[in-house]
Amino acid sequence: LQEHEKVKNIAKIELGRFEMETWYFSPFPPEYNECEKLYFCEFCLNYMKKKEQLLRHMKKCQLKHPPGNEIYRSGPLSMFEVDGMKNKVYSQNLCSISKLFIEHKAANIEVGGFLFYILCECDDRGCHIVAYFSKEKHSMDSCNLSCILTFPPYQKKGYGKFLIAFSYELSKIEGKAGTPERPLSDLGSVSYKRYWTRVILDILKQNNDMTIVEVSNMTAIKPYDIFNTLRELELVKYKNGQYIISKNRKVIDLHLQAAGSAGLPVDVSKLIWTPYR
Ligand code: COA
Ligand code: NA
Repeated sequence: LQEHEKVKNIAKIELGRFEMETWYFSPFPPEYNECEKLYFCEFCLNYMKKKEQLLRHMKKCQLKHPPGNEIYRSGPLSMFEVDGMKNKVYSQNLCSISKLFIEHKAANIEVGGFLFYILCECDDRGCHIVAYFSKEKHSMDSCNLSCILTFPPYQKKGYGKFLIAFSYELSKIEGKAGTPERPLSDLGSVSYKRYWTRVILDILKQNNDMTIVEVSNMTAIKPYDIFNTLRELELVKYKNGQYIISKNRKVIDLHLQAAGSAGLPVDVSKLIWTPYR
């Protein structure tokens, strides 16, 4: 059997103040596979079979935020960068939980090769994980995002678009255009399409004569993704041996409206980050 064909094992998880129903199979060590529900520590992501174990653990656990550097803080939102090499168990646990919500995902990646960007809502009790994405330390095909997940109770609030925007801000700092790892899930694909449409059309609206390469230089979106987005919106034509971007303001405005809200903005002035070396 392939991973994604296996029968869902763990039906529910508890994480922070939420109980969540799971979506897909995820491999956990055999002794956990009989469990209907797993209890996760929202800070260190260790998991337990019983609520009492979790309560005992919470009294001892020293962590109040993900085990990494805080690289962004704006209002109640913080982003932490966790190095998979330095925090193997945390990163493996994160991959195991997120597999419960992603159908096609390699279950046992070598976490040491990845950085994990953990978005938290913070209050006086600590920084609570709400969403994350992972990124390869050295990507051969310039992927700037490998896996992305917003935990179900926090979905559809703009966090997905925020993470996507964040991944491109990191690429801008690296001075290198990036693209998400394929295949994208249906929800991942919708989120990217909406993000690309908004960002690209906002620029085309303001600048009359832009080439795809110029848009790429401004956004860190790969030229191929820009071309494809415009092609799907029927905003690019092949004429006399070259591609021409349509400048029809009305059409651009209609597509922009359909692309929905800009989402939560990333305040770049609150981002303190240097690329991995
Ligand atoms: N049905 C239809 N559209 C949806 C949707 C749903 N269930 N969930 C989100 N969308 C749309 C939203 O309408 C939004 O567009 P809009 O703001 O223009 O209206 C867009 O997708 C992004 O929404 P946003 O709130 O920013 O994203 P999110 O926090 O819900 O996260 C994912 C998006 C993809 C990260 C999230 O759905 C998820 O974690 N899915 C499971 C894991 C997964 O599939 N990851 C991708 C693997 S490649
Ligand atoms: Na993926």
